[in-house]
Amino acid sequence: MKRFGVIALAMAAAIHSLPALAMDADAADKLVRKSKCLTCHAVDKKKDGPSFKESADKYRGKPEAMDKLTKHVTVPSKVKVDGKEEDHETLKTDDPAAVKNVVEWILSR
Ligand code: HEC
Repeated sequence: MKRFGVIALAMAAAIHSLPALAMDADAADKLVRKSKCLTCHAVDKKKDGPSFKESADKYRGKPEAMDKLTKHVTVPSKVKVDGKEEDHETLKTDDPAAVKNVVEWILSR
């Protein structure tokens, strides 16, 4: 049992470190910059919003991750920043493939 756990962990680590071939990190980075996501987020440190690494950890292994985050970055919502309600930005694109690319990018941080 213990041995199985170790193997499963090693496999999870290996899968996670494989580059997702379909994902275009440069394009994702450009779009989150253009959409002003980085005023409240950073890849690996908490700003007004959680870091993308933190969100990736939160959703790791969750089947609803793609759906939830796709909605979160395409449907306007309100978030609390310093106790004040602010609009949560959405991605500045009409291209579902570009949205999917960004969500995959966030989830692979
Ligand atoms: C005004 C500041 C602000 C901007 C701009 C912003 N966010 Fe956020 N974001 C937040 C806050 C605050 C939260 C935490 C909300 C919560 O947990 O209720 C959050 C949460 C998130 C989450 C985690 C959602 C979850 O379900 O855990 C993701 C992913 C995210 N934002 C991505 C983005 C992307 C992509 C953009 C650009 C399109 C963006 N954010 C723009 C403040 C911002």
